[in-house]
Parts: sequence; C-alpha cells; structure tokens
Amino acid sequence: MQKTFLMVKPDGVQRNLIGEIVSRFEKKGFQLVGAKLMSIPKELAEEHYGEHKERPFFGELVDFITSGPVFAMVWEGENVIAIARQMMGSTNPKDAAPGTVRGDFGVIVGKNIIHGSDSPESAEREIGLFFKQEELVEYNKLM
Ligand code: CMP
Repeated sequence: MQKTFLMVKPDGVQRNLIGEIVSRFEKKGFQLVGAKLMSIPKELAEEHYGEHKERPFFGELVDFITSGPVFAMVWEGENVIAIARQMMGSTNPKDAAPGTVRGDFGVIVGKNIIHGSDSPESAEREIGLFFKQEELVEYNKLM
C-alpha cells in the first residue's frame, strides 16, 4: 500500500479549506494516517524544497511556506501518489482543470493551495522530513 505526503499551504489554511480538502481525499477512498497543523521552520522549508534551490523563486517559495500555519498530512491507499496529484491539478492553477483542488480554489502559481509528493522517492523523503514513525497510525484492515 502506497503512502504520500500532502500539505495544505498557508493560503489554503487561511482560506479555511482544510476541511474541504481532507473531505475530497476521504471521499475518494484514501485513509488519513498522519496529520498536524504546524508552522514550518525555515531550515525545514529549505530542505523540503531543496530541489528548487537554484530557481529564481526559491526565496519567495520559502518565505511563503513559512508565512503561516500549514496542515501536513500522510495519506495511504492504492496508487495514492499519482491519484492525489490528479486530484490536486496542475502546479499552475491557470492550467488546472475544474474539479481539481487548484482548479477550483487557486489562481496564481505561488499560492496554489496544496503540495503533494510527485514520486515514491519524494513521498518517502517528505514523510520522513515532517513525521516521526510513531506519529503515523495503522488501521485495522478488517474494519
Ligand atoms: P509545489 O507543488 O509546492 O512545489 C514547488 C512550488 O513552487 C510549487 O508548488 C509552486 O507553488 C511554486 N512555484 C512554481 N513556480 C513558481 C513561480 N514561477 N513563482 C513562484 N512560485 C512558484
């Protein structure tokens, strides 16, 4: 069973979209196995977005993601990494289809509401950056 890291960014939290976003992934059939409302320390933001270090918008990205609380989550399910990316929509909300989180709620690329891991490798890395093993739950599979 796959796990992925999803995060409602400061814009989504401030616009009271946590419930709406969690609800979409619950209704789709995924299980929430970890969640926390938190402020991201600058060092964690720089590590999380390390692959974008050379991009001109890196400073802006780090400033934004540390500008207010985020809602960090780990979700579990079959193909959850790819399906969650589809449900989030394209990175730039102007290209994101209606029905996706960014298509329905976002306007500009720097404030695109949600982050989600793009591969099994980044899911493992990002889950490890934000959560300790003991912060993740296991469900009784007979339920
Ligand atoms: P995310 O999926 O969190 O991963 C990297 C983020 O960089 C991306 O979402 C966007 O929010 C942000 N980003 C991408 N391009 C730009 C840009 N041109 N200006 C500002 N932020 C950007």
